[in-house]
Amino acid sequence: MKKIAILLFSLFFYQIVSAGSVEDGIVERIKKVGSVCVEGNDCAQASAGGAIADTGGGGEATYKKSCATCHAVGVNNAPKLGDAGSWQPRIAKGMDVLYKSAIDGLPPGMPMKGLCFTCSDDDLRAAVDYMVDSTK
Ligand code: HEC
Repeated sequence: MKKIAILLFSLFFYQIVSAGSVEDGIVERIKKVGSVCVEGNDCAQASAGGAIADTGGGGEATYKKSCATCHAVGVNNAPKLGDAGSWQPRIAKGMDVLYKSAIDGLPPGMPMKGLCFTCSDDDLRAAVDYMVDSTK
């Protein structure tokens, strides 16, 4: 279990470091990961209070910050945004199951809370809604 967590985190950091074109450099990016402020710096402005929950963007904002890392490209077969084919069998399980997977994680690939440990359950549900809606 520990190994999987370490693997996931390395993967997560690898994605952050290798993605984005932020000039601030790696240290700055790692700082952002620390504050769960991953993509670009829009959340840095929007969450001056330190919380990322109320950025006004709802599910989309949460998705971009926390879920896109894996769900944009399908890391470990994560169902991709807008890819109805990979979402369909999951949607068939019912939204409550998907919400639960987002909150509790779905081993081995889907980490608890999608690694957004400052996200509330409602933030996570909204992000799921956003991804599911993207397939319609
Ligand atoms: C580290 C990569 C990673 C991150 C970050 C991540 N996911 Fe996932 N997610 C996955 C993988 C991999 C799966 C497929 C898991 C499986 O079916 O084994 C998945 C599956 C899911 C599913 C389908 C669950 C089911 O029951 O079929 C939902 C919903 C989901 N993720 C929501 C989210 C949300 C919301 C976020 C952001 C808050 C997020 N994920 C962030 C990797 C990730």
